[in-house]
Amino acid sequence: MGWNSWNIFAADIDEVKIKEIADAMVSTGMRDAGYKYLNLDDNWMRPYRENGRLVGDPDRFPGGITALADYVHGKGLKLGIYGCRGTATCMNVPESGSQGYEQVDADTWASWGIDYLKLDSCNAQLDLREQYELMRDCLLNTNRPIVYSICCWYFVGEWMIDAGNLWRTTSDIQDNFDVITRIIDSNADLWPHAGPGHWNDPDMLEVGNGNCTYEEYKAHFSMWCIMAAPLIAGNDIRNMTRETLDILLNEEAIAIDQDPAGIQGQRIRDDRDHEVWVKPLGSENETEKAVALFNRGAGSAPMAVDWSEIGLSGSANVRDIWEHQDLGSYSASFSATVPSHGIFL
Ligand code: GLA
Repeated sequence: MGWNSWNIFAADIDEVKIKEIADAMVSTGMRDAGYKYLNLDDNWMRPYRENGRLVGDPDRFPGGITALADYVHGKGLKLGIYGCRGTATCMNVPESGSQGYEQVDADTWASWGIDYLKLDSCNAQLDLREQYELMRDCLLNTNRPIVYSICCWYFVGEWMIDAGNLWRTTSDIQDNFDVITRIIDSNADLWPHAGPGHWNDPDMLEVGNGNCTYEEYKAHFSMWCIMAAPLIAGNDIRNMTRETLDILLNEEAIAIDQDPAGIQGQRIRDDRDHEVWVKPLGSENETEKAVALFNRGAGSAPMAVDWSEIGLSGSANVRDIWEHQDLGSYSASFSATVPSHGIFL
């Protein structure tokens, strides 16, 4: 869990802004809710290397990245950084790619106190697997624990599970409900590959960026939790509405996402726009389950789940994770009216 600069700021990042984000991660309660990684995305580096090494852009990060890492660590947070396996990043910052500099860059990041690396895949000609495995080995050589996030937009093979801690499974997210649902579809069938230490990554959150409705953002966040996805916020957390805070800080939804068993939920029913998803909690056979009734359609709809579909029998207690309310005991099934583009969790 954490925050990343790309979805809201894209290229426009600097030290002042990032320190304010670090402050906000603490003051809003995000850090304490579990959002620990503050991740710089593309364009933190100056164009062209200095003596073969990457350096922070001196205009936008005059204090240097080590000082920034110290600041971030001082807040009880961890600092993530962005790199690229090719010759330049996806924004084409000259000489910013790690190809041919893998160990130098890993050592540089470790010496700065970096805790997380997102390694992108632009301007790359060499073998994808070899390059990602090489950087894994270079990170291990530093002896610093660094989360390794592979960003090549697709799950391309089982080797990724041994190479990375997470890997992007889709093209870039946008603050748009159609794109979000397309991303859910791309990520859904990859559930067998997810588990503690190795996660499918359907990309960073768009919650709070303004282009979707409250119901849509609730559905987006709930689905990331059902899919045990990394929760990397992507909004300007210095200015959040009550609704955005209620979503990002919903402890019960977060607990579903972070359940120690780390099972990625599955779509068990797909009636066109009306889907039922289930994520076992605790272990595959526990009788506590997270269930989502997800309405992708244009109108509100009555939706139901039978206990037999989710491996339960007899009666079960139901809790509404958005209303934070126990709804009592239900025998055999549960139904609710779910708003358009909305979810019952
Ligand atoms: C790619 C990645 C994005 C972002 C940009 C930065 O498109 O998929 O998440 O990191 O590069 O240029």
